[in-house]
Amino acid sequence: MSRLTPRVALVLAACFAAVALTGFPPRPEFAAADDKAPGTGPDKAAVERTRATVKMLDDLHKGYVVTITDTYVKAQERTPAATVVKKVFAHMEKNRHGTGRLIDATGSPLREGNVAKTDFEKAAVAAIKGGKGYVDEVGTKDGKPVLRAATVVPAVMPACVNCHPHVKEGEVLGALIYELPIR
Ligand code: HEC
Repeated sequence: MSRLTPRVALVLAACFAAVALTGFPPRPEFAAADDKAPGTGPDKAAVERTRATVKMLDDLHKGYVVTITDTYVKAQERTPAATVVKKVFAHMEKNRHGTGRLIDATGSPLREGNVAKTDFEKAAVAAIKGGKGYVDEVGTKDGKPVLRAATVVPAVMPACVNCHPHVKEGEVLGALIYELPIR
């Protein structure tokens, strides 16, 4: 009997190990913890994918703003590309692709409502005025993870200055703000 005891002990040990593996949080969660932000944040790869999406969207919005301005907006009385930006963001939001805003960073917006409102927007405008081209943060909306990002909007062409005469060409005019779900 005494020769069996170590075996029994081994079997028991195996049982405890099995309980430990099944009854408690499984190991893979711990292994993946390194890929997560501290606490219960989304995994790093998902955040990186969302950053890549922001980059693409930012190029797209800026691309059509410049194209619309160049192609259609010949004078101050014409509808600016900023109006299209608002409509496209509203369309994207309706289709649950997150939200976006074009806001002022100069203190003199053409429309009063286009000022930084949230804490993130205010911090982003300060950072962009300080020379940053891009800032983001991971947060939550309705309990789900989101990436909030801001990119600089300079007065990239002479037409911008026609309607926003308080800045010089090339100077910072505003920021594009994105809040995208992290999936
Ligand atoms: C035809 C005039 C016109 C031109 C050209 C124009 N804008 Fe605007 N812009 C406006 C108007 C009007 C608004 C306010 C739109 C609204 O909120 O309805 C605006 C809003 C903005 C805002 C949000 C802050 C604010 O002032 O309300 C930014 C940033 C901006 N424009 C950047 C640009 C850039 C960059 C260009 C050049 C690519 C440009 N604009 C060209 C008229 C113009």
